[in-house]
Amino acid sequence: MTTHNNAKNVISFINMKGGVGKTTLCLSLAYQLSMEDKKKILIIDMDPQFNATQTMMEQYDLVDEYLNKFRTEKSIINIFKRKKSLTNTRSSEIELKPEDTIIKSTINENLDIICGNIDIIFEDNNQDSISKKRLDLFIRKHKLNEYYDFIFIDCPPTISFFTDASLIASDYYLIPVKIDKFSILGVKMLDNVIALMKEDPENKVDCLGIVYTMEEKQKKLESIKDLFEENELIRDNYYIFSNTMPKHNHLLSGSKGNIAYNYDDTRGDIRSLSKEFLRVYFKEGEQNEECS
Ligand SMILES: Nc1ncnc2c1ncn2[C@@H]1O[C@H](COP(=O)(O)OP(=O)(O)OP(=O)(O)O)[C@@H](O)[C@H]1O
Ligand SMILES: [Mg+2]
Repeated sequence: MTTHNNAKNVISFINMKGGVGKTTLCLSLAYQLSMEDKKKILIIDMDPQFNATQTMMEQYDLVDEYLNKFRTEKSIINIFKRKKSLTNTRSSEIELKPEDTIIKSTINENLDIICGNIDIIFEDNNQDSISKKRLDLFIRKHKLNEYYDFIFIDCPPTISFFTDASLIASDYYLIPVKIDKFSILGVKMLDNVIALMKEDPENKVDCLGIVYTMEEKQKKLESIKDLFEENELIRDNYYIFSNTMPKHNHLLSGSKGNIAYNYDDTRGDIRSLSKEFLRVYFKEGEQNEECS
């Protein structure tokens, strides 16, 4: 349970570029912090591809339960679903409680998940202005940010209702970046999305930094990385984590899923990264408190 920083602990893992390691970093950091640091963490899978959910259901041996029950009865959809009928009175609506949507497991009692679901794309999400705020409202109403040390949101790679809803609910965001010729584009697009969002003074999401993922020691990539870091937008605005998530085959095709904590070869990297993550997070919190 946290009392830190007025419980400003909802963090989106986001980049407008696909396949850069967002989900892998989100899950790996969540696993590491929950297992070794005993932090209580909630993962929210906002991506209709529901990759985080698939990995976590395998970890928790809940694949059948997901397919037979959670998918239809206990997923992120519950938070966004509203009754269509206008004749329903408010009191007749059954209020959604955290236990109606959060999945827990004794395999790791410090790490819970709100499962994603492909069918969320069929929800009529843009009809009213409150829709995008539903995740934020759910978290705050039930004080989930006080119950958990961190809430990590795994975001899809496209500008969409889901990324907007994630960012509105978030206090911070972290940008996983895979270095290649187009890395800058994903960050630039995200920068524009955030700038647009911040036109509404109620939206106060801050960036914790950029984390390099699938890092490879190659001369050519090093020079692309230098160009990325010399870019004015990056140089002047973004902290770059000194620890990285190196490329490792286990995280691509290992039998224990794309969770760095699960492999001897990758645990050291995620441990160092998680220590830096905590340092950066607590420092950000102190700075924000000084400013307010
Ligand atoms: N450090 C790594 N080393 C090797 N493979 C990795 C690493 N990180 C991620 N991968 C693999 O790369 C692929 C893409 O990773 P991941 O799903 O985490 O990216 P993503 O940004 O979440 O993708 P999407 O935009 O589709 O949500 C996956 O197959 C994953 O297993
Ligand atoms: Mg993903």
